[in-house]
Amino acid sequence: MKILAIETSCDETAAAIVEDQNYQPLIHTNVIASQVAVHAQTGGVIPNVAARLHAENLPAILREATKNKRMEYDAVAVTVGPGQMGCLLIGLSAAKTIAAVQNIPFFAINHLEGHIYSAWINQQAGGPPELPALIVMVSGLHTELILMERHGYYKHLGSTRDDAAGEAFDKVARLLGLPYPGGPALSQLAEHGDEKAFPFPIPLSDNDSLEFSFSGLKGAVFHQISKLPDPLPRHTAADIAASFQATVSSTIKKKMLRAMQSYPGIKTVCLVGGVAANTHLRKTLEHAINSNHPDIRFVVPELQYCTDNAAMIGTAALYHHLFGKPDDWYNTEADPNLELAKQ
Ligand code: KG4
Ligand code: ZN
Repeated sequence: MKILAIETSCDETAAAIVEDQNYQPLIHTNVIASQVAVHAQTGGVIPNVAARLHAENLPAILREATKNKRMEYDAVAVTVGPGQMGCLLIGLSAAKTIAAVQNIPFFAINHLEGHIYSAWINQQAGGPPELPALIVMVSGLHTELILMERHGYYKHLGSTRDDAAGEAFDKVARLLGLPYPGGPALSQLAEHGDEKAFPFPIPLSDNDSLEFSFSGLKGAVFHQISKLPDPLPRHTAADIAASFQATVSSTIKKKMLRAMQSYPGIKTVCLVGGVAANTHLRKTLEHAINSNHPDIRFVVPELQYCTDNAAMIGTAALYHHLFGKPDDWYNTEADPNLELAKQ
């Protein structure tokens, strides 16, 4: 089955064609129109502006993903939440129209499930992640540890009490005067800094739970900056960026290892979500797994599949097709607060 997938939940307008090839996704096309340049002017996403840009860009993106209609497809999939309501509705309305007019199966996909299935893309070398898997989800709005024992079922082990990891990157980047989007800018600056320069506390480190908290860390960075000269010398800003990034990586590593200890049957750890694009985090988790659990596989998507894209939505739909069933487009609604199906 070939699936045309659409993603418009936040600030990327995206479409892709994904095909089932022996229970693995083959990505034929993966097209993204990023709104970053527009949102950089206002320092963040303004929902109405984002929705208008999705409406403007989606037709051309769909045309490109289907190679001017020369590429056929048998089903359509779309992100239905979580995300901005106005943004979600643009993609949903397009997908419903395609399903209705062409009378083809329709798949309603949770954006977070899309991020999870990004770990199933391009894994030919090692094959798809083996279950049970521990999912470490780190995006702009979510920081969660999830146990996935079978396709489509997710057990929440812990999430953030306040800010998400990506949100913390974006807020600290703003404190350092870096441009939007903050995460990539901060990690670039961190390359020139000393991560031991400012020993920020690891949030909830004494806590036995698998919960995260990043707002205290952001507060500690703010407090530190307020004691330093204004404007900050570039090398000091780089030291703060490197120290903050290392603290986030250590926090996630600690909680991941704790979860692996509590659930000994885990065969794979998948790092997914926009912050999975962070090289320091990728290396920290890989090193921790190789040294503590050499029998457990670490899977992290290629960079292009970490941040929002439609290939991951098509891949999630592919597994709905293989292990579940299509949805009824007529009764599907967008849900800005959609949660993952719980076990
Ligand atoms: O998954 P995503 O594209 O969108 C959401 O679903 O939220 O994640 C976006 C988040 C932003 O907070 C962005 O700053 C962060 O991912 N991000 C990064 C990096 N690339 C993106 N954070 C740290 N280092 C990066 N290289
Ligand atoms: Zn996302």
